[in-house]
Amino acid sequence: MTQQEFIPGQGMENIESGDVTWQSPSNIALVKYWGKKENQIPANPSISFTLDHCKSTTTLKFSKKTKASEDFDFSFYFKGSKKEDFKPKIQKFLERIEAYCPYLKDYEFEIHSENSFPHSSGIASSASGMSALALCIMDLERKLYPGMEEGFFNRKASFLARLGSGSASRSIEGPLVVWGEHTEIKETSDLYGVRLPYQIHEIFKDYRDTILLVDKGEKKVSSSVGHNLMHGHPFAEKRFEQASRNLERLIPVLRSGNLEEFVRIVESEALTLHAMMMSSEPYFILMKPNTLEIINKIWAYRELTGIPVCFTLDAGANVHLLYPAADETKVLEFIKNELVAYCENGHYICDLVGSGAKKIDNG
Ligand code: PMV
Repeated sequence: MTQQEFIPGQGMENIESGDVTWQSPSNIALVKYWGKKENQIPANPSISFTLDHCKSTTTLKFSKKTKASEDFDFSFYFKGSKKEDFKPKIQKFLERIEAYCPYLKDYEFEIHSENSFPHSSGIASSASGMSALALCIMDLERKLYPGMEEGFFNRKASFLARLGSGSASRSIEGPLVVWGEHTEIKETSDLYGVRLPYQIHEIFKDYRDTILLVDKGEKKVSSSVGHNLMHGHPFAEKRFEQASRNLERLIPVLRSGNLEEFVRIVESEALTLHAMMMSSEPYFILMKPNTLEIINKIWAYRELTGIPVCFTLDAGANVHLLYPAADETKVLEFIKNELVAYCENGHYICDLVGSGAKKIDNG
């Protein structure tokens, strides 16, 4: 599909007012997206597990203006309180998607959002938040243009979410979503995420992700600054090639359940992401001493027990522990005995692979 196909045609219904609610999850990348071109086009393809518990719930209330105006008209509430400081990000998002959603200025909006995870947990809410808002907007669009196919709905929701935050494009569906064109994976696109179009091994369908909250502070380096540092980065081209190759290597692994190879690819991706940050200009380190303590403990535990628990990292200090559901009891024991000491206030979040966003019936 091209972006032109996301511009609606003629024949819009008249919808006066209403509200829609969507719940959309966060995701954790196995092959990382780090570096982008103009208009949120990724420099390399990425793949992620969709999560289940870490999610945003967003309600969009809309009412038609008596007279269309030149401005977007919206207010934003987070957990019931009006938040002016969130507005510029949403304003920018609406500006970016306007060409594809020309009806936006016809309405006055109230956006209400909340997250299932604490705001100050170091867990980025951009993927879940932006995808939930994109889904609400698509729900309005589906009312305006009835008869929309579900495939189109999901693709365009992902397309819009991407314009808000790249990784948000991977939060619409589950359990595994690829975003970014890869010649060996059919239907992939730089414009939106698609469900991995292959069979996956049972073991990955309820894979566990326990997020160890090492540092709950605000991100020290925003991801847009981070992505930009890949322009002119001495290792950029090699990194983008490596990500494509790692994605290709991961496909048979996801099918066969070869966990040794899974661990090798996933941990290497996490460390490479941080290696890119450490070798950019300016350089920075987002890991904390406790991040490294945890990684070393995981390696020692895996060596000792043979349990295939591994880690991955986002652009921050928190550690995601990935492991099969069958090993949950033992791994949780390990976390409590050996890793909790490295978490801020002993906090961690237990999540697992999920199936994507859901519409909530407002009754
Ligand atoms: O979606 P953004 O622009 O916040 O970028 C997120 C990038 C990483 O989380 C570090 C990696 C990824 O692929 O999710």
